[in-house]
Amino acid sequence: MAPITSLLPKFISLSMLMSSYMASLSPTVKVLHPSLSTVSVKWQKETFPGIEIDTSQPPVVFKTQLYTLTGVPPERQKIMVKGGILKDDADWSTLGVKDGQKLMMIGTADEIVKAPEKGPVFVEDLPEEEQVVALGHSAGLYNLGNTCYMNSTLQCLHSVPELKSALLSYSDNVRGNGVDQASHNLTVATRNTFGELDQSVRPVAPLLFLQTLRKKYPQFAQQQNNVYMQQDAEECWTQLVYTLSQTLTSETSEPPAGQMKELFGIDLVSRVHCAESGEESLERESVYSLKCHISHDVNHLHEGLKHGLKSELEKASPSLGRTALYTREYLTVQFVRFFWKRESNQKAKILRKVDYPLELDVYDFCSDELKQKLQAPRQMLRDAENAKFGLKAQGKASSSKENEKQLTGIYDLIAVLTHKGRSADSGHYVGWVKQDDGKWIEFDDDNPSIRKEEEILKLSGGGDWHMAYICLYKARVI
Ligand SMILES: *[C@@H]1O[C@H](CO)[C@@H](O)[C@H](O)[C@H]1NC(C)=O
Ligand SMILES: *[C@@H]1O[C@H](CO)[C@@H](O)[C@H](O)[C@H]1NC(C)=O
Repeated sequence: MAPITSLLPKFISLSMLMSSYMASLSPTVKVLHPSLSTVSVKWQKETFPGIEIDTSQPPVVFKTQLYTLTGVPPERQKIMVKGGILKDDADWSTLGVKDGQKLMMIGTADEIVKAPEKGPVFVEDLPEEEQVVALGHSAGLYNLGNTCYMNSTLQCLHSVPELKSALLSYSDNVRGNGVDQASHNLTVATRNTFGELDQSVRPVAPLLFLQTLRKKYPQFAQQQNNVYMQQDAEECWTQLVYTLSQTLTSETSEPPAGQMKELFGIDLVSRVHCAESGEESLERESVYSLKCHISHDVNHLHEGLKHGLKSELEKASPSLGRTALYTREYLTVQFVRFFWKRESNQKAKILRKVDYPLELDVYDFCSDELKQKLQAPRQMLRDAENAKFGLKAQGKASSSKENEKQLTGIYDLIAVLTHKGRSADSGHYVGWVKQDDGKWIEFDDDNPSIRKEEEILKLSGGGDWHMAYICLYKARVI
């Protein structure tokens, strides 16, 4: 038998782990979570098998799951249960819904061609025959519908000043060693688009950016019936960050350090332990985002991250050890909200509500060594905050170099990329970005609007509203 260590996935494959994890929701998961039953739902001529009901959540959550599958809005769903029609706020325990039961739903799907009250209807959400008609009617629809994955990504990354200045010093003419032309072009286009966003009060059409993105990553040029398809924002984010990590290198340092790595890099160190042989080794890896895994017992970002960093690996071997984290200035958290459904060949969405904080403390996830390093700056931060309230400092003032800002392990939310709709490849993406003055702006298409902080925290899912897909946090330094 091969030693376990060689079978271990590296951390970067967390989202793949998620798909196999979801696809094979094993009986053990059910034992662990008695609040889960799996039913099938018959609707018109179709039957949807294996739908999970989280009975700790009100039935309206189940209805939004059905909405993503059928397109029938929750308020129009009639689902037959013991005692009549399922009410949004009924108590599951009184309804006697059993594992494996077949439920019946009546209701008609959204009327597609109703005039949108607000916000566009997306071409790719329409039945094929109507896509053409829609195109004929309103050219704006096509433009609007199919690049919001890119817009929202650009808007969120544009909120990072250090990235802007790194791009500003990127030269049109100098292409680094081993950098291909398409990556170079994409970097220049990103720089120019950011520049335009800064200079213009009017909407910018990031056409050139789009073209270079499609040159470098042809998957974003996929078409269906001659219409460009909606794409996954997370893929766009990841590819763009990856490209920039290849091109934005500071030539001055030796070996050339990646500027993206300094800004966004997260080093993971896993202690890998083989129970059988007693072998132990350290595996290091650098990633650009942390994944928040949404399973049935995850209600909060913190828990989802823990899952990502710990329990998935524990699945492979109970004595695997643990993973610790080294972070840098910006922390990107992705909510793994989509998983691949083999039956429908589609990325299906997980609607579960997962709260995330405005202030994220990653101390618990850090290696012991890093925890040590964080202690002094954290004390300084606490003292500084206490001083604001007129309390005396507890720790002694740090002797460290005055001007060197230190990380504290505390991160502040600065941007959220949300998704609304049925699958990653359809629906609508929007960027929500915090401004220097503390205000939040929702960038929905060409129409930015001011939002309150409470509204940002309401993007946590569980219903049919925009829900967080990627969160960007910035380090609080002292
Ligand atoms: C890069 O941009 C240049 C100038 O716009 C263009 O001529 C060239 O075809 C582009 N190359 C690639 C691979 O995208
Ligand atoms: C993308 O952003 C530009 C500029 O804000 C805007 O004109 C365009 O409508 C947006 N498109 C989408 C799909 O959001």
